[in-house]
Amino acid sequence: MIKKENQFANNGMTKEELKELASQLGNPDGEKGIQVGQMMNETNIAMTRSGWQDLSLTTGDIILELGHGNANHLEELLNKVDNLTYFGLDISETMKSEAEKYCLENNLSHKTSFQIYDGQRLPFKECTFDKIFTVNTIYFWQSPLEFLNEISRVLKPNGLFTVVFTDEETMNKLSFTEFGFTKYTDTKFEELVRQSNFELIIKKNYIDIIKSKILTDIEREYWVMTLTKGTNS
Ligand SMILES: C[S@@+](CC[C@H](N)C(=O)[O-])C[C@H]1O[C@@H](n2cnc3c(N)ncnc32)[C@H](O)[C@@H]1O
Repeated sequence: MIKKENQFANNGMTKEELKELASQLGNPDGEKGIQVGQMMNETNIAMTRSGWQDLSLTTGDIILELGHGNANHLEELLNKVDNLTYFGLDISETMKSEAEKYCLENNLSHKTSFQIYDGQRLPFKECTFDKIFTVNTIYFWQSPLEFLNEISRVLKPNGLFTVVFTDEETMNKLSFTEFGFTKYTDTKFEELVRQSNFELIIKKNYIDIIKSKILTDIEREYWVMTLTKGTNS
């Protein structure tokens, strides 16, 4: 097989292997999906924690996460404040069952609930959630503006939504992002928000080092954008 050359952070993977990894990151499936889910959870835990920081978690909050992966971060999240109720949506059956298994093993099933959905229409009523967050899913949103407005629909009037994503410049160093990822800079994301029913209230950026078995160590720049419903929504 011909190996791609002069690629940064592809660890010598072939084009077919990179495509397979990209597909697993966007929708983990089967045994390989379970391994990728574990790798994502470990590699992205700092991003996930950064997303919680600006949510002002409060006793009794009802929380929604979009694209939870294997959800191995939930013990930490649910111990942050008393009486949180968590709903998780993902498009991957494999991630739903891994998340349920983790919650069962860690005695979290009574506080958590998971559903598969189509990645576009949220199966909840208007103004259901106090807090919503999503980490590393924006690259896969099919209709970003419609999806933001759909998220706004299920958020309570004074609710908060954090979106966490890796900056385009870092993504360009990861060869697998050539396959099916839509990349965002802060300004591209802000332009999207301006067209939506949301308002941006906090914008933060972070730099960390990604270390994993699959990815070469690289410096990663990422954004945490905190949104609230606009006055006209
Ligand atoms: C790159 S992984 C990120 C997982 C985890 N949030 C993290 O950062 O480690 C993307 C996850 O989002 C899911 N996903 C992809 N598109 C989605 C969508 N439109 N809504 C919700 N989840 C989605 C995938 O199945 C996968 O579990």
